[in-house]
Amino acid sequence: MTLTQDRPTLAASRNDLPTWWRNAAVYQIYPRSFADANGDGVGDIAGIRSRLGYLAGLGVNAIWINPWYPSPMKDAGYDVSDYRDIEPVFGTLDEADAMIAEAHALGIKVIIDIVPNHTSDQHRFFVEALAAGPGSPERDRFIFRPGRGEDGALPPNDWQSCFGGPAWTRTTNPDGTPGDWYLRLFAPEQPDVNWDNEDIRSEFLATLRFWFDRGVDGFRIDVAHGLVKDSALPDVGDLPFPLPEDWPDDVDHPHWDRPGIHEIFRTWRAVADEYAPQRAFCGEIWVGRPRRLAAYLRDDELHTAFNFDFLMCPWLASDLRTVIDATLATHAAVGAPATWVLGNHDVCRPVSRYARDQRLGQPMDRNLVHFLGRPADLDAGLRRARAAALLMLALPGSAYIYEGEELGLPEVEDIPLDAMQDPTVKQTFGADPGRDGCRVPIPWDADASGNYGFSPAGASAPWLPQPSGWGERSVSAEQGVPGSTLELYRSALAIRNAHPALGDGDMQWLDSPADVLAFSREPGFACWVNVGPEPVALPADAKVLVRSGDLTADGALPSDTAVWLELG
Ligand code: NOJ
Repeated sequence: MTLTQDRPTLAASRNDLPTWWRNAAVYQIYPRSFADANGDGVGDIAGIRSRLGYLAGLGVNAIWINPWYPSPMKDAGYDVSDYRDIEPVFGTLDEADAMIAEAHALGIKVIIDIVPNHTSDQHRFFVEALAAGPGSPERDRFIFRPGRGEDGALPPNDWQSCFGGPAWTRTTNPDGTPGDWYLRLFAPEQPDVNWDNEDIRSEFLATLRFWFDRGVDGFRIDVAHGLVKDSALPDVGDLPFPLPEDWPDDVDHPHWDRPGIHEIFRTWRAVADEYAPQRAFCGEIWVGRPRRLAAYLRDDELHTAFNFDFLMCPWLASDLRTVIDATLATHAAVGAPATWVLGNHDVCRPVSRYARDQRLGQPMDRNLVHFLGRPADLDAGLRRARAAALLMLALPGSAYIYEGEELGLPEVEDIPLDAMQDPTVKQTFGADPGRDGCRVPIPWDADASGNYGFSPAGASAPWLPQPSGWGERSVSAEQGVPGSTLELYRSALAIRNAHPALGDGDMQWLDSPADVLAFSREPGFACWVNVGPEPVALPADAKVLVRSGDLTADGALPSDTAVWLELG
């Protein structure tokens, strides 16, 4: 089943713009969980190819595909053992080439993921480093150090892994005695590389060219704020991260957001600029401070970066307004477009985040730990997520949609412990439920016979279990149904692709009640979002283009509802 491809030309016309990345609505494909064509229970490139028509019909301008490289899959592909090939579970390089060409033929740009902070421990460089021993040029490509304490039995410093526990793993010497330690800010199988090393620099530049030459339009850069470490490796101590916005610029964290990163990305930008049509980067940059985020977006560095402040912002009007204003001001100062995002494969799905009491805040964390024990109203969560989608797609700049958001999927919060795959679960001994709940294979068909159309009939079980009731939120259940979340996204994207006011540009706040976010964009467009509990009257002379829910009988905008208006 594929959706008819009835609006590709609109998306395609946006992509004719040389600066397509300033406007793009990008659909994130988590390949393991998108569509499985060969029936092994894991999504693949053939599955993506079979659904490109659906994506064209949805109206997205680009897709971002999470890592598809050969990988031992200790962190779902973010442990890359070869940056210039395709993981056999996902397919082949020929299939990737075909997919890129087919996406382009539908007017869809292709962004892939690059993972420059760490490799897999099975990458040739790391295998060589272990074999070559201390002090060798091979080891200089990574961050090896002797341990502290008696016999070097303690890690070289106090840095912690993002997945829990110390950020260091000890090696074993050829004679079986304990050896040096290596840094790995994520899983033990993900050694951090040394960006002071010339081999590392040239290797990644060659990788960019390899994929640009194959037609890839851009890269999402994993952990872009983490590449450079203080080579003295001082303890973090009680230094907070993110550092507070008002701290002086000469205070830096030893391993996040260090000034030396910018020079690396200038070399990357120079490579991207060699190509036409324009290639673009989007940084995954968790720095918390809008000013520091914008520094990555100067015109000789990255083109765009995810705005995680928006993702983390509670559903409260004043908080949202503050984040939007700070984002637009800091991005304008460097001439970069904002990049709005509500979810991804690392964070709790927006429906389930917004289902919780918003006055308790949203966690920055990538996990659900903060939500456990907090009651959820999933109907309210869905209403808010739909309104947030209209807000996001109306704001100036580009936007990312994580697969399944267009179906209104909630987080799956009851995956049995023994079915969980995320290394976070293991490294925290189950205390942290990790990120599997937003990675469950998506439902294409309402039919529950096995896998909701994720895989062919009779296939192996999906790599994560799908919950009962998944079919109600499937593509086939929502397609063509007025008011469904899928049709809301399709309508909004069609308008966004055609309306000259949307995408890159300016906005002006309108006078409105305190609980309402109302802004206009020229020519003739307004977005109203009621974040408060009471209905509010809409401007009398405006025509509703699309709405996230029903208006009241007298035409007012109810709580947790958004509309796009054509102003007279
Ligand atoms: C961020 C990625 O989005 C996440 O999934 C991954 O685990 C870490 N970086 C480490 O690569």
